[in-house]
Amino acid sequence: MSEISIRAAAADDKADWLELWQGYLTFYGSGIGRDVTETTWSRIIDPVVPVFTRLAIVDDRPVGFATCILHPRTWAIEPACYLEDLFVDDNHRGRGIGARLIDDLIAMGRRDGWTNLYWHTNSDNETARRLYDHYDKADDFVRYRLPLTP
Ligand SMILES: CC(C)(COP(=O)(O)OP(=O)(O)OC[C@H]1O[C@@H](n2cnc3c(N)ncnc32)[C@H](O)[C@@H]1OP(=O)(O)O)[C@@H](O)C(=O)NCCC(=O)NCCS
Repeated sequence: MSEISIRAAAADDKADWLELWQGYLTFYGSGIGRDVTETTWSRIIDPVVPVFTRLAIVDDRPVGFATCILHPRTWAIEPACYLEDLFVDDNHRGRGIGARLIDDLIAMGRRDGWTNLYWHTNSDNETARRLYDHYDKADDFVRYRLPLTP
């Protein structure tokens, strides 16, 4: 079986990331505009913006990604990390790549002193929840989301 490695996304990864990103948008049935995709990519590769992507690499090709936002907190001095997007190409699922992407973030967070790593998922996303349940139990918070743009 080919080895899996995890590394930061770099400018040269754009074409591969776009392909994976498109798969992720299709999974969610989302039709966000090209301008949003371009802006997201610019943020990912801008070292000043606290948005970053870690890529899972198999046979020298990105096959999955985790995209996070590192943000300040009011209840702690250290930042927390929000895992906004996690995706593994469907030809590579079930091999532990999603777990490797999360493990990598945990290692980064321990090294850099984040207070926690957190994420949301749809309650019926059973595949994702099976993976997530290996890490912790879901908490009992509920979300309120008010749309503010037309
Ligand atoms: C959710 C998602 C990222 C999981 O990625 P993945 O690479 O398949 O995840 P993993 O392989 O690490 O874990 C999935 C299962 O494979 C198992 N697994 C882990 N390592 C394994 C290995 N070496 N060999 C076989 N199975 C393995 C995991 O234990 C888990 O199954 P189990 O709980 O029944 O044991 C992927 O399904 C995906 O991209 N889905 C669509 C997008 C999505 O839902 N994203 C999350 C939104 S919040």
